[in-house]
Amino acid sequence: MRYLLLQKKSKIFIYILIISLYSTSCNSSNTDKEVTISEKTDSIADYIKPIEGKNDTISLEAIEKGKVLISYSDCYTCHKEDKRSFGPAFRDIAKRYPANKVFIQMLAQKVIVGGSRGWGYAVMLPHPKLSAKDAELMVSYILSLKE
Ligand code: HEC
Repeated sequence: MRYLLLQKKSKIFIYILIISLYSTSCNSSNTDKEVTISEKTDSIADYIKPIEGKNDTISLEAIEKGKVLISYSDCYTCHKEDKRSFGPAFRDIAKRYPANKVFIQMLAQKVIVGGSRGWGYAVMLPHPKLSAKDAELMVSYILSLKE
């Protein structure tokens, strides 16, 4: 009798185990889906789409300040220096845009208002509290990463 009861209990235990395993595997497949959407691209040249233009020299001071501002902000939750993560790699951004005032201002505005479709379908959240000056320093640092 006791043996039978034990068997019944362990059956319930196994049943619960299967349900919990099933629900955790469902969760992980959801996060997989998000990653594949953000990695939608064609070839590397199509992805970088380099723009012709002259490069101004960016002051060392602006580069250093931009680097510090970036590390204090949330940028590295979506960007990496060398590799694409949720957002494009900073080095890929530097490969696309000429490092001059026009592009620095344009990209600084994009960081402030956010957006998508420049590098795929992932969306950059807006940074409305960022001043134009700080955003420009951050972009100056990113564009200084040209080879
Ligand atoms: C929520 C994730 C996320 C955060 C946080 C984030 N970015 Fe982005 N960023 C993206 C994505 C996604 C893109 C690509 C947008 C696109 O395809 O147009 C992007 C694109 C960019 C670009 C290129 C824009 C263009 O039009 O080519 C710059 C520059 C940039 N980010 C800088 C920053 C800086 C600086 C910060 C920190 C203040 C930051 N990002 C924070 C996700 C993020």
